[in-house]
Amino acid sequence: MLLKIQGILNQAQLEKIDEILGEAEFVDGRLTAGMAARRVKNNQEMKQEPKRMELLVRILVGSLAHNDTFNSAVLPYRMADPIFARYQPGMTYGDHVDDAIMGKSGPRFRSDVSMTVFLRDPESYDGGELVIRTAFGDQKVKLPAGDAVIYPSSSLHHVAEVTRGERLVALTWIQSHVRDPARRELLHELNQAREQLLKDAPAQQTTALVDRSFSNLVRMWAEI
Ligand code: NI
Repeated sequence: MLLKIQGILNQAQLEKIDEILGEAEFVDGRLTAGMAARRVKNNQEMKQEPKRMELLVRILVGSLAHNDTFNSAVLPYRMADPIFARYQPGMTYGDHVDDAIMGKSGPRFRSDVSMTVFLRDPESYDGGELVIRTAFGDQKVKLPAGDAVIYPSSSLHHVAEVTRGERLVALTWIQSHVRDPARRELLHELNQAREQLLKDAPAQQTTALVDRSFSNLVRMWAEI
């Protein structure tokens, strides 16, 4: 499932991130790429300085923790520290799938869901679309600042060349409690129906049945 989530970050958070990144050093993104990705990766990433990272992680992880759509669609278990990547004119990231095992410095975990949070006004740069290959064709994604897209980490994707301005994004990877993307999608849809029923008809037997089925499906499929 490819899902766009609006308003992961608000204006104040975007400005704070801009302020923190303004003083940061950016280095060649190839330094963090695996052997295959290195051949097609041409961008820059913020040097991971601990104090700065702590501030950035607090902002991003804090708002994700409170985002109902993110939690319902991803069922997050473990999450990578974000990477802040920028693309200036001529920069691009060719077709690749993301690393399967993450967490070189801390506990290791599997990447099930990839997330890109857009940090710049789309009018301020040309190109830089995230292009995700799906069974229904290429999906080009370029979102307003503060919005995010999530997609299965197994998807082939690339970033189109930036031809004007600067593309700035935050990236992270999540291990989900539910590994299979089809099961996650089903749970997300059932959860939306459940929440609507709990609002509209809290006393109905149907609501109780759907609520219990949702809980027990999560229990059946969740890995801890
Ligand atoms: Ni990628």
